[in-house]
Amino acid sequence: MKVIWQSPSNIALIKYWGKHDKQLPNNPSLSLTLSKANTTTSLALEKKSSKKKIDLAFTFEGKENRKFSEKIETYLSSLATDFPWLEGHRLLVNSENSFPHSAGIASSASAMSALAVCLLSMDSKLKKKKNRSDFFELASFYARLGSGSAARSVYGKFSVWGKTKEIKNSSNKFAVPFPVKFHRSFENLQDTILIVHDGEKNVSSSAGHALMRHHPMEKQRYRNANNRLKEILSAFKKGDWESFCIINESEALELHALMMTSNPSYILMKPETLALIEKIQTFRKKTKIPISFTLDAGPNVHLLYPDSEKKKVQYFISNELLPFCADGKVIYDEMGNGPKQIS
Ligand code: DP6
Repeated sequence: MKVIWQSPSNIALIKYWGKHDKQLPNNPSLSLTLSKANTTTSLALEKKSSKKKIDLAFTFEGKENRKFSEKIETYLSSLATDFPWLEGHRLLVNSENSFPHSAGIASSASAMSALAVCLLSMDSKLKKKKNRSDFFELASFYARLGSGSAARSVYGKFSVWGKTKEIKNSSNKFAVPFPVKFHRSFENLQDTILIVHDGEKNVSSSAGHALMRHHPMEKQRYRNANNRLKEILSAFKKGDWESFCIINESEALELHALMMTSNPSYILMKPETLALIEKIQTFRKKTKIPISFTLDAGPNVHLLYPDSEKKKVQYFISNELLPFCADGKVIYDEMGNGPKQIS
């Protein structure tokens, strides 16, 4: 028995930074689901061949990978009560990324969501449950346990993870799709990832989340995130690009400000990150084209802009931004539709 799913990465516009208990977020977050940056995972069951509780054979792009394999084994062991069949079979798992490894794209969101969707899909197959109405909600729940941001990757377009009074069925335990119709100018929102540095991160997200406990700006941060979520929802509905740009950039800079003022503190931006930010803001002021940036927990810049301005913005990228990217590396991505079953 085999299932194969492809699941995308996402970029948070309202950031999840700080968690408690079992992967529960300290504030609601909202993300754009990407289209081209994704992970394809296959899960096959065979007759058990060892006495180990979890009999896993994991390969990444066809090759053994110890670090990933250990992480997945721990994750699967933690789910054995929910999916008892995990302990009764040999599990063959292979994952492939569409984007180059260490391209500076958060791969845990696509990887963990692809695996969670495969688990749910296999579970439904074994239980002969077709068209489960709560399929993606459950997939989001299990993806969250692997990596918080992965909870948001199971839906297309925009998704929200974390309890907020702005959205009726929102929850800390799973993400929900964007609940209302957004303005058509946000349809096919473009995200060009300007790769400043493609090495491994020197601080893990988990360590970063932990530093939010007793952070001097802790309370204000959660207030800001809640307020900005409300504002961005309204900007989406109205097609208010001016507010959208301000909210995006405030969130990105605040995330990095939190890292810079934690104890121990750290700086993930590089000189090229700042040079790009300056170029982007100057271009916006001069042309009135609503481009804006957001940042992940790293130095790379995500440039967001409307589909209708694609030609002009991509000309600007080629001429003025590429010199700041590592070996001219850039990924032209855009709003995506969420996970896809391959077989
Ligand atoms: C800055 O989801 O990678 O990208 O739950 O510990 O796996 P874990 O953390 P992770 O944190 C992502 C942080 C972020 C912001 C975001 O995606 O919301």
